[in-house]
Amino acid sequence: WMGYGAAAACGYLAGSIPFGLLITKAAGLGDIRSIGSGNIGATNVLRTGRKDLALATLLLDSLKAGLVAFAFSYFFGREVGFVAGAMAFVGHCYPVWLGFKGGKGIATYAGLLLFTTLPGFLVAAPVWFLLFGITRISSLAALAAAVLVPPGAYLLGEHNSVVLVGLTLLSLLVFWTHRTNVSRLLKGTEPKFGTPKAKPE
Ligand code: G3P
Repeated sequence: WMGYGAAAACGYLAGSIPFGLLITKAAGLGDIRSIGSGNIGATNVLRTGRKDLALATLLLDSLKAGLVAFAFSYFFGREVGFVAGAMAFVGHCYPVWLGFKGGKGIATYAGLLLFTTLPGFLVAAPVWFLLFGITRISSLAALAAAVLVPPGAYLLGEHNSVVLVGLTLLSLLVFWTHRTNVSRLLKGTEPKFGTPKAKPE
């Protein structure tokens, strides 16, 4: 149980580092929370037009969850590692430093999956890219992936009950962190990204 406590505390602290906010501030772009959706994640960093900073945000937010999960898995086993990564997701979404107003958790979810349950990652990544490719809506891709990860991971061979229950809870939390996106999607007002190479008319 010591392992679980340390995993939860370290996971939360690692997760609560708001890379998107720090990177855009360092680049002189002002406060990302007053741009676009106001979110601190890679999707909203991309709305500044800086693909490089969006990619850096995606990688660092993923890695903070993935590496803390990997480290605790290594020393205490995969279930403790999973809890560390799951708490990084929670820390990202509810960071004490930002008055508990953080991001929406998708990059941290991806990092957690990659380092703790490959079956989950193998469901999430193709579903996200397929849906984003078709719709150009990041939140819709994330919500579809969140729905399919728990059953899909199970079908691809993930049978650990701590992991499966954890994935289900995190996917529910994704719907909660995306609640304003869900209401925009239902109203048809959720913004899309332009297609990369729009053909001139
Ligand atoms: O990963 C977050 C994404 O799903 C939605 O971000 O900025 O469009 O609310 P945003």
